[in-house]
Amino acid sequence: MASNRIVNVGIIGLGGMANEYLRNISIIDSIKVSAICDVNQKLLNIIGEQEGVSQDKRFKNIEEITASPEVDAIISVVPNNLHAKILELCILYQKPIMAEKPFTLNFEEAENLNLLYQKKPIPCMIGFIHRYTPSFQYAKKLLEANTIGKIRHIDVRYHQSFGTPLFNVPYLWRFNKTITGTGALGDLGAHMIDSARFFIGEFRSISALMKTFVDKRRDPITGEERHVDVDDFTSFQAILENDVVGNFVTTRNAIGASNQHEVTLYGDYGTLHVSINRPNEIDIFVRNKSNENPVLTTEKVPETYNKTILNDFAELILNKKSQNTPNFYDGYKNQKVIDRIIYSAEKGHFVKVD
Ligand SMILES: NC(=O)c1ccc[n+]([C@@H]2O[C@H](COP(=O)([O-])OP(=O)(O)OC[C@H]3O[C@@H](n4cnc5c(N)ncnc54)[C@H](O)[C@@H]3O)[C@@H](O)[C@H]2O)c1
Repeated sequence: MASNRIVNVGIIGLGGMANEYLRNISIIDSIKVSAICDVNQKLLNIIGEQEGVSQDKRFKNIEEITASPEVDAIISVVPNNLHAKILELCILYQKPIMAEKPFTLNFEEAENLNLLYQKKPIPCMIGFIHRYTPSFQYAKKLLEANTIGKIRHIDVRYHQSFGTPLFNVPYLWRFNKTITGTGALGDLGAHMIDSARFFIGEFRSISALMKTFVDKRRDPITGEERHVDVDDFTSFQAILENDVVGNFVTTRNAIGASNQHEVTLYGDYGTLHVSINRPNEIDIFVRNKSNENPVLTTEKVPETYNKTILNDFAELILNKKSQNTPNFYDGYKNQKVIDRIIYSAEKGHFVKVD
């Protein structure tokens, strides 16, 4: 570890989501990009120049970057089928890791990984970034202060529109089960599951429905139509800890919703509503001081709730501190819930989670 208390990270996968990490790293003093890895040479050149990464720290091989002594920690931003391999290497070389979600293709992979992780644990976080939305952090504090009383019901949605026929998006890895595991469920539903676990706790039982509305897409290389074998719509209802009822819908076909994740928490004395589209505001329905019936107030979230997932990653590595950080266990449990959703959709009835 660098003595000046800076974490030198190696980023594996330099596509869309890596840009989000690079943007955040640029505003955090305690993390620096010291190495990069991608199979795409063009991206290695572009990001290498942009970040000032020397040629010998631009890797094409995930094992080489993970083993590199100049790399203190890894950020894994590759397609879903590769996170588990990178996690395995990080356990082998005892390197802290931030792995994107879903962190495995399926629950079986998560179980195998868990056996390795339990023997040789490492600092590990999973990219459940939405719990870092300031309004989500603030809502969590309000729940802990019992602001809306006993929670009875949570309504969660995550809608995007890129999958709709209107946009005619070609066949990508996100539509290929062997690379992605699931479609909207693992991509967006994983965040819904994490939000529910963050606010409420564990899932107990689930009843789910999964659909593929657009089941053929044109391959951008061959021009031929390819079959889509993952969902682009999943809904489920669940019983969570303390008998809280949850309703969840995710879709890639919601025209008008470019990226819309929102959560409403209904308690005996009030309601909280948060959305990633309004990260610094929270809608609150509670009785005011004169004890009148609840009316909607939209509060600005105090600035103290502004931090990114990478601030916590640095804290975990440098100071071994973690509070409400999404960790290996959160990734593992998330994958378990995904597994049960798939099983319930196949069977057509409620299933228990554990
Ligand atoms: N937390 C979030 O909100 C969020 C948002 C978007 C994506 N993600 C996750 O991030 C991951 C990446 O998604 P993306 O949108 O950036 O995908 P992407 O396709 O844009 O980028 C993936 C990159 O990985 C590279 N790659 C592929 N195989 C590789 C290998 N063997 N070695 C090194 N590099 C390799 C590709 O060349 C590409 O540059 C996925 O797991 C996705 O679910 C998370």
